[in-house]
Amino acid sequence: MTRFVNKVAIVSGGGSGIGAEISRELAAEGASVVVTDIKLEAAQAALEYTAQGVRTNAVGPGFIDTPLVRASLSPEAITALEAEHATGRLGTDKEVVALTLFLLSDAASFISGSYHLVDGGYSAH
Ligand SMILES: NC(=O)c1ccc[n+]([C@@H]2O[C@H](COP(=O)([O-])OP(=O)(O)OC[C@H]3O[C@@H](n4cnc5c(N)ncnc54)[C@H](O)[C@@H]3O)[C@@H](O)[C@H]2O)c1
Repeated sequence: MTRFVNKVAIVSGGGSGIGAEISRELAAEGASVVVTDIKLEAAQAALEYTAQGVRTNAVGPGFIDTPLVRASLSPEAITALEAEHATGRLGTDKEVVALTLFLLSDAASFISGSYHLVDGGYSAH
């Protein structure tokens, strides 16, 4: 797909987990991606930024199965958490990316200044 040709994306924390997957998918769809990360080896490029026409939205992940979660929680805690989700599992990085790329695309041209949960029903439980 080429939804993001001629677009520039800036991804902070793009060296691992959700940020890394967002960076890969945006690049695969034609965007010029600037990846920043606190880890020097994860930061890939310098930044040119223009504020014209920029929409701002926030994506709120629930419990997403990433290196961060695996490093922070025991297997028993993860199993207990899965049971707290309407979906019966944690989310994946790709499920966060799907919403993120939609919000970045022209299909979301009238969506700005809003917050979007991706939590498998955890908050509503
Ligand atoms: N995984 C989840 O369930 C979950 C849920 C809610 C929110 N979040 C948030 O989403 C973000 C990404 O989470 P993840 O699970 O992909 O984590 P992750 O640990 O897999 O990846 C985070 C990346 O961000 C980089 N980073 C950390 N601090 C930074 C900084 N100050 N500046 C630039 N880069 C920095 C790290 O080096 C790492 O490469 C985090 O802020 C996390 O708190 C994650």
